[in-house]
Amino acid sequence: SQYPHINKGLEGIVAFSTTKSFIDGQEGKLIYAGYTIDTLAENATFEEVCFLLWNDRLPNESELSELKTKLRKERSIPSAVINYLENTSKKAEPMAVLRTAVSMLSDFHEVDTENDKEFYLNKAISITAKIPTIIAAYDRARNNKKIVEPLSDHSTAFNFLYMLNGEEPGDQAEKTMDLCLILHAEHGMNASTFTNRAICSTQSDMYSSVTGAIGALKGPLHGGANQQVMNMLMDIDEQDADPVDYVKGRLKRKEKIMGFGHRVYKTMDPRARILRGMSEKLSRETGHETLYEWSEAILKTMKDEIGIDPNVDFFSATVYYSMGISPDLYTCIFAMSRVSGWTGHYIEQAENNRLVRPRALYTGEKDLDWVPVEER
Ligand code: CMC
Repeated sequence: SQYPHINKGLEGIVAFSTTKSFIDGQEGKLIYAGYTIDTLAENATFEEVCFLLWNDRLPNESELSELKTKLRKERSIPSAVINYLENTSKKAEPMAVLRTAVSMLSDFHEVDTENDKEFYLNKAISITAKIPTIIAAYDRARNNKKIVEPLSDHSTAFNFLYMLNGEEPGDQAEKTMDLCLILHAEHGMNASTFTNRAICSTQSDMYSSVTGAIGALKGPLHGGANQQVMNMLMDIDEQDADPVDYVKGRLKRKEKIMGFGHRVYKTMDPRARILRGMSEKLSRETGHETLYEWSEAILKTMKDEIGIDPNVDFFSATVYYSMGISPDLYTCIFAMSRVSGWTGHYIEQAENNRLVRPRALYTGEKDLDWVPVEER
């Protein structure tokens, strides 16, 4: 043909090499820097995963405790950012607010002087530590509640739930949140990580990269799907619909079912497998078993009707719902975790950079004559 081949949506294109994660889409396997997601889910903490993604190895005891101390020290956010969170629209989308607030953080960080690993790591720690504070502070402010200052101890998961709810979480809530953070931390060349690396490749700063990545994650085809899953379950409830008929109806109208399908996985996403078990347990414990049962019915219908499996966003929705978290914060929690992967990729890109600059196929006219404005 006269046109070169276009891989629409960059499907199958390998644009970078990475040591951060590996996905086997046929087998349903996910590895972060050498460790399977099942191994990490069973043994790691989110802080250990951050270290792993930033350094390509697990920390020893003193390295882990040093990282935890640094993260805790960086939790507070500048008063200008708090002013913004208190004064912006209470109806704003939390992901949009998070994007703006992260962008603002750069005004309060010293300008890049040297680009060594230590400098990047400190920035990654600072951004990762502040994102939970931003999310919780905005949620409190929009609900006319007093903003809760971050704690100077405890884990990222514990502190986030504490700042969000104004009371200390129990062991199980902390563990569930920590596990969700581990499961969402890193996932190959997804749209937000690609965006983040493309921005880094222009030698722009880490705040710009993370801000751009948050914008990419926000969309319903990417991280925004988890909120849409909950909206769908609520819709089924409000319409008093049968979930199987509801899904079949949407498929007939060629509408997508959020939380299903994946560019890389052609089988069940291993994270969905882990979250499925959590969703079942938590839904039963909190009296939301109907939502879990609907989820299972939807899963079976999708498999039977079009042979598509759930992705990470499907069961995470009911897990967060069981924890009493507002659906429009689900994607923010995804960002709170994925920032570890984004910043890991930023460092990797910066250390072996080449400008990201693909081509586009021009399909427009080429030799039009100029027509004066009054004659158009
Ligand atoms: N519901 C109904 N049909 C679907 C779905 C779905 N969720 N996903 C894919 N299909 C169909 C699609 O309509 C297409 O059918 P046909 O060949 O007849 O046109 C076929 O499956 C192939 O899908 P595609 O859209 O070409 O696949 P893609 O690789 O371009 O898109 C996706 C991947 C994730 C955007 C898509 O599956 C989707 O829109 N899913 C719903 C949104 C979602 O859950 N996103 C979260 C993704 S995973 C976590 C994350 O990154 O945040």
